Amino acid sequence: KRPAGAPDKSLARKVTGVGIVGAGLMASQLAMLFVRQLKVPVILTDIDQERIDKGVGYVHGEIDKLQGKGRLSPDAANRLKGLVSGSLDKSAFAKTDFVIEAVFENLDLKKKIFAELEEYIAPETILATNTSSLSITKMAADLKHPERVVGFHFFNPVAVLPLLEVIKGEKTDDATLATAFATAKALKKSAVGSADLPGFVFNRLLIRTLGEVMNAVDEGTPFEVADNAIAELGMPMTPFTLLALVGPAVALHTGETLAEAYPERFHNSPGLEALVEAKKPAVWSYGADGKQVVDPEVAEL
Ligand code: 3HC
Repeated sequence: KRPAGAPDKSLARKVTGVGIVGAGLMASQLAMLFVRQLKVPVILTDIDQERIDKGVGYVHGEIDKLQGKGRLSPDAANRLKGLVSGSLDKSAFAKTDFVIEAVFENLDLKKKIFAELEEYIAPETILATNTSSLSITKMAADLKHPERVVGFHFFNPVAVLPLLEVIKGEKTDDATLATAFATAKALKKSAVGSADLPGFVFNRLLIRTLGEVMNAVDEGTPFEVADNAIAELGMPMTPFTLLALVGPAVALHTGETLAEAYPERFHNSPGLEALVEAKKPAVWSYGADGKQVVDPEVAEL
């Protein structure tokens, strides 16, 4: 069945080479997913060689894990590893026909990256963005070929969660959209078409939920009580564990975008701001017995 919002699949172009801009948490997971499912060359870039090496190292490690679980033969694992490379030089993206960026959530940075890439890639190469909440239309606005820009928003952990939001910008053309939906299918994801609105669909729910739990803490509910209160609903993770997985800075940025767009429904949390300011990578730490305990510094926020 054709997903809602997907054009006729006959318009889709074949993807034979993938470029990933960024080599961080989401980007390296994307590199793994694309190489595993599409089995085409995947090239990563970032701002320095160390980050690139770390991203490629992550992919190699995940391939080793699959081999260890008996899901890939040694030959298949080696072939996949051989398809992944990194380069500081964006001209190496010339042979790609599907590029996805997963860099820090900053509209100007993303616009600059896409404009630079246009110097090297073919006019029909797709420029996809994994943004959580920024406008696809604005991201494409100053490009020579805005019709090839599309939102392609994944969820962490990328290997496990099936949802993928596909977002059409004002100028996104049908061939781009059809290629995005066909690629989503090849990646074995459940694609959902979304309008180009702040937070798309999923992040409105996530930020509202995290925001309410944060409000409870900000207003004096003990951290553990607030965190465990809705876990019994059968959610796979408590809200603060999920916040640690997503990354407090990403959650704060998405929350700010939503608060700006819909001030009557979303507002910023002083607790979350303090968490990001303190550069806390996670809200959990491990006790001497190896069990997760609440980080006392964070519990005091
Ligand atoms: N990378 C690769 N594989 C992973 C993984 C990761 N980071 N984390 C877990 N897995 C795999 C495991 O290897 C295991 O695979 P196997 O069964 O084939 O061996 C499988 O997932 C299950 O792992 P576990 O038994 O360890 O874990 P759980 O059953 O406890 O599930 C979870 C872990 C899937 C992370 C689950 O807790 C979950 O779904 N949590 C909610 C995550 C969520 O809501 N994410 C959305 C975040 S929002 C976002 O990303 C958008 C952004 O814009 C903010």
